[in-house]
Amino acid sequence: MKFRFVVGTLLALSLVAGCSRSAADEPYRIVNNEIVFAEPPRAEGQHDVLQLRCDPIPVVRVAFIGLGMRGSGAVERFTHLDGVEIVALCDKVPAYVERAQRILAVNGLPAALEFTGEEDWRKVCELENVDLIYNCTDWEMHVPIALYAMERGRHVAVEVPAAMTVKDCWALVDAAERTQRHCMMLENCCYDFFEMATLNMARAGLFGEIVHVEGAYIHDLRALQFDRGDGYVGMWRLKHNTVHTGNPYPTHGLGPLCQLLDIHRGDRMERLVSMSSGQFGMSAYAARKYGPESPEAETPYALGDMNTTLIRTAKGKSILIQHDVTSPRPYNRHHTISGTKGFAQKYPVPTLAFDPDAHRPLAKDRMEELLQRYEHPITQEIGEKAREVGGHGGMDFIMDYRLIYCLRNGLPLDQDVYDAAEWSSVAEMSEVSVRHGGLPVVMPDFTRGAWNRIEGFRHAQAE
Ligand SMILES: NC(=O)c1ccc[n+]([C@@H]2O[C@H](COP(=O)([O-])OP(=O)(O)OC[C@H]3O[C@@H](n4cnc5c(N)ncnc54)[C@H](O)[C@@H]3O)[C@@H](O)[C@H]2O)c1
Repeated sequence: MKFRFVVGTLLALSLVAGCSRSAADEPYRIVNNEIVFAEPPRAEGQHDVLQLRCDPIPVVRVAFIGLGMRGSGAVERFTHLDGVEIVALCDKVPAYVERAQRILAVNGLPAALEFTGEEDWRKVCELENVDLIYNCTDWEMHVPIALYAMERGRHVAVEVPAAMTVKDCWALVDAAERTQRHCMMLENCCYDFFEMATLNMARAGLFGEIVHVEGAYIHDLRALQFDRGDGYVGMWRLKHNTVHTGNPYPTHGLGPLCQLLDIHRGDRMERLVSMSSGQFGMSAYAARKYGPESPEAETPYALGDMNTTLIRTAKGKSILIQHDVTSPRPYNRHHTISGTKGFAQKYPVPTLAFDPDAHRPLAKDRMEELLQRYEHPITQEIGEKAREVGGHGGMDFIMDYRLIYCLRNGLPLDQDVYDAAEWSSVAEMSEVSVRHGGLPVVMPDFTRGAWNRIEGFRHAQAE
C-alpha cells in the first residue's frame, strides 16, 4: 500500500501557522515567570475514579480499533489470553482488517465483525456486545475514540501517549469520572522484567528513599518516520514532529518511574522545565534518503533532536526524561533509580549498586542473583508464557494479561486515567516550556486534590 508524502515546505508552514492560538484560547497563563495550566473544577455530581472497581466481566469482549504495526501485534497477543472474546476489528485500511482476521484464523478463533470506514470506529463503540475498546490508532485518534467509547459505556485501553494536550488529558479524566469507566493507557514499559524487579526491590527498601530517577525514549525511528509506504500510516508521526517540539512521547520513560515514586498515590509531579536541542538529524537523514531538494529535506521540522525535561515532585524528588527518535544511537530508556541506599540502571548495561560499595557496580552474577530473588510476583506468575508469546520481549503480553485479569476480577486497573493524564500531559507541557525558553511549568493535579489519598502504588490482586 502506498501513501503519498504530502508535507512539503508550504504545507508545513501552513500547519505551523494553523497551530498558533490567540491569547484568549491559551490553555495556560504566565504568572510570576511560571507557566500555569488551568485546573478546571469538577462538574457537580461527578466523582473521582481512584481505585475504581467495576462489575467483574467473566469473558471480556474486545474490539480493536487501529490494526497497524501495534494493533496487529495486540490481536496476536490476545489470541493467547484466556477469558477474552475478540468481537470486532476496525481499521480504515481494509488490508489491515484482513490481516487481523488471518491472525484469528491461524490461531483457530472465529472471524470477528469487520469495520473499515474512516468513521466506523463510532459503530464499533456502539456495539452492545463489546466491553473493552482497545485503541491502537495514531496519536490524533486516541482521544476522540476513547471519549466516544466511554460515553457509550465501554472500558477503554488506549495506546501511548493517551492524549497530546493538557486539555485532552482533562477530557479523558472527566469522561472516566462522568461515566465511571476504566481508561487505561497501554504503557507496556511498566511491565518489563527489570522494571518490575526494581519496583519490587524499591518496595523492599533496597534503594532507601528514592531521590532521583531518569527515563527516556531514545530510539532511532528515522527509517520508519521517513518511509513513504510501509511506515506509520499516512506518516502521522513525521507530520506531528513537523509542527511540534518538546517531548511528544514521554510515557515509556515516565510510567515505571511514576510507579516507583507513587505518583498520585502519595506524591505528585509539581513542576517541569524543558529544553530541546536544535533540529539536525531529520533534515540530514531526509536529504540523504530523498535528496536535498525533496519535500522531506526542505521541511522545517519543529522537533529538536534531543529533548530533556526535568520534573520536581511535591516530596522533593527529581525526574529526568529524554526523547530522541532521530539520532543514530543505541536504544535507551535509562530507567535509572538513585536512592539513599542504592542505585539501579537498566540501560545501556543493567547495573545495581548498593551501600557501602555503591561506587562499584555489583558483579554480573551477583546482580543476576538479586534480580532473580526480587523477581516481581507478577512476572514470576506469567513471565515464562509472556516470553513465549513475545511483544517487546514479553512485557506487552504481561500488560494485556493484567488488564484482562483486573477486568475479569472487578479490580482497579494497574494504570488509571490519572496516570494516563499525568504521564501524557508532559507532551504539551514540555513543548510549552521549550517554546518559552525553558520557563518552569506548574503541572496540574488531575486528581483535583486527591493525590495523597492512596498509600503507595500496588498491583491489585483477587482475594
Ligand atoms: N507501546 C508501545 O510500545 C508502542 C509501540 C509502537 C507504537 N505505539 C503506539 O501505538 C499507536 C499506533 O502506532 P503504530 O506504530 O501501530 O502506527 P500505525 O500507523 O502502524 O497504526 C495506526 C493504525 O491506525 C489506523 N487508523 C488511523 N485512523 C483510523 C480511523 N479513523 N479508523 C480506523 N483506523 C484508523 C491506521 O490505518 C493504522 O493502521 C500509536 O499511538 C503509537 O504511539 C506504542
